[in-house]
Amino acid sequence: MWRRGLAEYPVEQIRDDFPILATTMNNKPLVYLDSGASAQKPRCVVDAMSAFYLNDYANIHRGVYRLSQRATDLHDQARSKVRKFIGAKSDKEVIFVRNATEGINLVAHSFGRAFLKAGDEIILSAAEHHANIVPWQLLRDDIGVVLKVAPITERGELELNVFLDLFSDRTRLVAMTHVSNALGSIFPIADVIRLSHDRGVPVLVDGCQAVPHQPVDVVQLDADFYVFSGHKLYGPSGVGVLYGKSTWLNKMRPYQGGGDMIETVTFEKTTYAPLPAKFEAGTPDIAGAIGLGAALDYVSAVGINRIEAYEQDLLRFATEQLLSLDGLRIVGTANNKAGIVSFVLTGVHPHDVGTILDQQGIAVRAGHHCAQPVMDFFGVPATVRASFGLYTSKNDIIALVDGIRVVQEIFG
Ligand code: ALA
Repeated sequence: MWRRGLAEYPVEQIRDDFPILATTMNNKPLVYLDSGASAQKPRCVVDAMSAFYLNDYANIHRGVYRLSQRATDLHDQARSKVRKFIGAKSDKEVIFVRNATEGINLVAHSFGRAFLKAGDEIILSAAEHHANIVPWQLLRDDIGVVLKVAPITERGELELNVFLDLFSDRTRLVAMTHVSNALGSIFPIADVIRLSHDRGVPVLVDGCQAVPHQPVDVVQLDADFYVFSGHKLYGPSGVGVLYGKSTWLNKMRPYQGGGDMIETVTFEKTTYAPLPAKFEAGTPDIAGAIGLGAALDYVSAVGINRIEAYEQDLLRFATEQLLSLDGLRIVGTANNKAGIVSFVLTGVHPHDVGTILDQQGIAVRAGHHCAQPVMDFFGVPATVRASFGLYTSKNDIIALVDGIRVVQEIFG
C-alpha cells in the first residue's frame, strides 16, 4: 500500500495494489480503461471483505450475542466512513442501497409519491443516465408528473440560462447528474443547487461519476439528495449510497417494507424505525458496506485531491494524444471534464473499435453508455469511451492510441 508524502503521484505503486492490472487479456497486458462502468478493486477491499466473512460474520442488528454485535459495529463504522468521505452531518443521513440506481428509485418512489401530484414538474438534464430518467418516467406514468429537460450545448455543457427558464410555480424537484457518464462534462452542480434553492426547489444529484474523481461535500453543496455506487469507487458491486437531508428523509415513506425498518408491527398498524433503518429493509449487503468502507480508506490514503489533479493531467494528455489521430472526433468537449473521453472514428462502428481493441487487451466501453438521449443529441448511435481511475497510467493511454492505429489500419 502506498503511503502519503511522495512528491510524485505514485501510479506504479498504486497499480501494485490492484492485482488484476498485472494480468493479461488475449495474450496482451490488460489495459483497463472502463473505470466509468466499474472500477477495479484494490487488494485491501477484498481482504476486508474476506476477513469479515472468515472472522466476524453474523447478521447485524439481530443478535444479543457478541459476534452479531461485532458485525453491527463493523457495518456502523462503514457508514461513518461514508459520512465522513462525503461531508454529511450525520450517519443517519447515509442510507445504504444497492447502487445509485436504487437510490434514485427510492427517491422517486418515496419523495415522488409523498410530495408530488399530477401536473407537478421535475427538471432533468439532456445528459442524464437512464437511471436518472426512467424512474421519473415511471412516476409520470403513475401520478402524472411532467418532466422537463434542460438542454446541453454542442460541447456537452449544461445550458444554465435555459435551465432557469424551465422553472415554473409547479417545479418540485431538479434531478441532475454531477458528471456526465457518456461525455465526462462536469456540471456546475453547486450553481444548479443554489439557483434551484433560490426558487424553493430541492435537488437530487447523481454523483456516480463524480465521487471517485473529485472531492464532494454534500453539506457545502447543500444537496438535498446525493447518490453514488460503491463499485465505481473501488468498492464491491451491490452496495451504493443515498445521502439525503434528514428533513426530507424523515418526512418520506419507506421504500420497501420488511425486517429491520420497523419499530412495532401488528396486523393493524406498523410504526417505522428511525433513520437510517427506515430505508434499509431486510438484511443488507453487510460485507459490501465493509468493503466500501475499506475502499474509502484507500482513496483517502491516496488523497482525493491528488487523484483529481492526476486524472486531470491524464485527461489533458489523453485528449492531446487522441486528437493527433486522423478521423477521430471527441464527443463531449466541455471546458470542465472528468477523466472520461468519448469518441468516434470515421468509417468504423464503435462496437468494431471496441472489439479490435479488446483483441489487443484494451478494455473500453462501446455503446450508448445507458444515455441514449445523449447519443441522439450528438447524432451518433454509440461512442467508444475510455474512462480513467486512480490507477490509470500514461502507458495505458499510449496503448489505447496505438490500438486505435491498428483499428484504422484494419479498416484501411
Ligand atoms: N453507468 C455505467 C457506465 O457509465 C455502467 O458505464
